[in-house]
Amino acid sequence: MKVDVLLGLQWGDEGKGKVVDVLTPKYDVVARFQGGPNAGHTLEFEGQKYVLRSIPSGIFQGDKVNIIGNGVVLDPALFKAEAEALEASGHPLKERLHISKKAHLILPTHRILDAAYEAAKGDAKVGTTGKGIGPTYTDKVSRNGVRVGDILHNFEQKYAAAKARHEQILKDLNYEYDLTELEKAWMEGIEYLKQFHLVDSEHEINNLLNDGKSVLCEGAQGTMLDVDFGSYPFVTSSNTICAGACTGLGLGPNRIGEVYGIFKAYCTRVGAGPFPTELFDETGDKIGALGHEFGAVTGRKRRCGWIDLVALKYSVMINGVTKLIMMKSDVLDTFDTIKACVAYKLNGEEIDYFPYDITEGVEPILAELPGWKTDMTKMQSEDEFPEEFNAYLNFLEEQLGVQIKIVSVGPDRAQTIERYTEE
Ligand code: GDP
Ligand code: IMO
Ligand code: MG
Repeated sequence: MKVDVLLGLQWGDEGKGKVVDVLTPKYDVVARFQGGPNAGHTLEFEGQKYVLRSIPSGIFQGDKVNIIGNGVVLDPALFKAEAEALEASGHPLKERLHISKKAHLILPTHRILDAAYEAAKGDAKVGTTGKGIGPTYTDKVSRNGVRVGDILHNFEQKYAAAKARHEQILKDLNYEYDLTELEKAWMEGIEYLKQFHLVDSEHEINNLLNDGKSVLCEGAQGTMLDVDFGSYPFVTSSNTICAGACTGLGLGPNRIGEVYGIFKAYCTRVGAGPFPTELFDETGDKIGALGHEFGAVTGRKRRCGWIDLVALKYSVMINGVTKLIMMKSDVLDTFDTIKACVAYKLNGEEIDYFPYDITEGVEPILAELPGWKTDMTKMQSEDEFPEEFNAYLNFLEEQLGVQIKIVSVGPDRAQTIERYTEE
């Protein structure tokens, strides 16, 4: 069997959680392959709303196996809070959620380092989620990390060595902090983790595939936040792209089947960094208000703008997207006209490709399309789509060269429409 991968094509928060939940009934296994509690994946169904951070979004659809892969970074304290809240709401996890022993642990001092490094950057700060993501991946790559599997062997020694190293860095940075509460909750989290299946997930997932089971891999963040291909240095510290599913789960590239690329009908970004189509006017405010564009984790206001097809084309290419999914269509229901960035003017020259650096001198060239001026939120099938909405879909498909197979018209699980266009 092949694995399908679902990932964000913009700057995160495209609606990955909702769609993973919708697609899960078609799969036996859902697996996260990178990121950590910097993610906030929102799901709504039966009048309830849930925000998942480290736990895969397949957890609400029956007895599916959910895997936290080796590419993920895990904070035991935040994990415990998230898992206990889910269990309390009637969703038992302990048998269904398997955690890779090779996943790296976010230590309390990683969180403090995250804050210290951001403070040291001053105006150049990334605007991280403050969850210790960068410092944890840094320790992984510099071969200083502590892994989930270490909980079972010589843990105190490994923890103490890592903590001492971090404390020295914090001293050098002259950064004041108090570890007491964080460390207490973290140690409780470590004990709690021991109740879960801590597994060699690369063996497990390949065995499941060999047994004919189907797997959906759930991306976190988005391609424009990828550490290699995003708007560096204003990115996260993992490979958010399709290849990240291979390294983050131990899958050969020939295992990849469909690649679902998900995007909003417009564009948002949270945190600092370039955003060519950002709107600073009342149109941007209107998109933000109608789309409730506030971070699921940090509550921060998301920056809003028109869809950026130059960046999206780049994301489609890097990920080898085979099917597109458009989210939050309903947010644009009341607009007279809708704009889409089809090229950039870079230092006066028109270009249609995503350049090395978009930090300065990039102006969007915008096409204008008529709005559909129709309430999309109650629609059940594509037969009900207004002509202008179909025109927008056709325009995007033409620009991106990939079919849009699913359209989302509201936050609820039920507000999802499949399109049956011919391949
Ligand atoms: P993720 O990180 O990619 O899973 O996305 P988030 O959960 O951070 O942000 C997406 C937000 O949009 C959440 O609040 C969802 O409930 C909401 N949402 C998802 N799809 C739709 C949609 O089609 N329409 C509207 N109005 N909201 C949506
Ligand atoms: P989901 O999975 C949107 C952004 C942060 C910051 C940068 C680096 O919900 O789409 P980090 O804490 O990762 O070191 O922050 O990346 N960022 C996200 N933005 N959605 C996310 O996740 C994000 N995870 C990180 O705002 O700009
Ligand atoms: Mg999110």
